Amino acid sequence: MSILKISHLGHPVLRKKTKDLTLAELKSPLIQKLIDDMVETLHEFDGVGLAAPQVHESKSIVIMEYIEEPGRKSRGDMPLTVLVNPVVTPLSDDKQESWEGCLSIPDIRGKVPRHTKVQVKAWDRNGKEITLKATGFHAVIIQHETDHLKGILFIDRMEDMKSLTFLKELARYGLDEE
Ligand code: NI
Repeated sequence: MSILKISHLGHPVLRKKTKDLTLAELKSPLIQKLIDDMVETLHEFDGVGLAAPQVHESKSIVIMEYIEEPGRKSRGDMPLTVLVNPVVTPLSDDKQESWEGCLSIPDIRGKVPRHTKVQVKAWDRNGKEITLKATGFHAVIIQHETDHLKGILFIDRMEDMKSLTFLKELARYGLDEE
């Protein structure tokens, strides 16, 4: 497995709509290796989610994982999940704002409103159909990561740019987290 290079804000791949995979493509060694490498890359950079465009691949793949550890907030574990060709449906009109960051926009955070409850239908890495329902932080991860496949970044979803902050300044002055 290898650690992949992360694409950063301004790279056109982050603004392109991704291509859905066929079952045959998904099962190819090339794509299976890409998924393995994305997992390795997510772990290397200590992220909670990664979309293929963030590793310069315009393909409809996202991975997510959140494991509670010392120093991380208690938000419920999300085991490693691979979503291929995901389709997200909001299950609530309610939105809630929370701080988001992105490996493609390093050291920046901003408050983003997201649906509080969503459903996502996708294939897993073997092409098996899965349906997930999620709320709260897990719903935020799903919406953030699947937005990447539409060429949308979290800063596009912010309603008030005034919360945009460097992580260092957030740690120093941002006392109203969640
Ligand atoms: Ni992101």
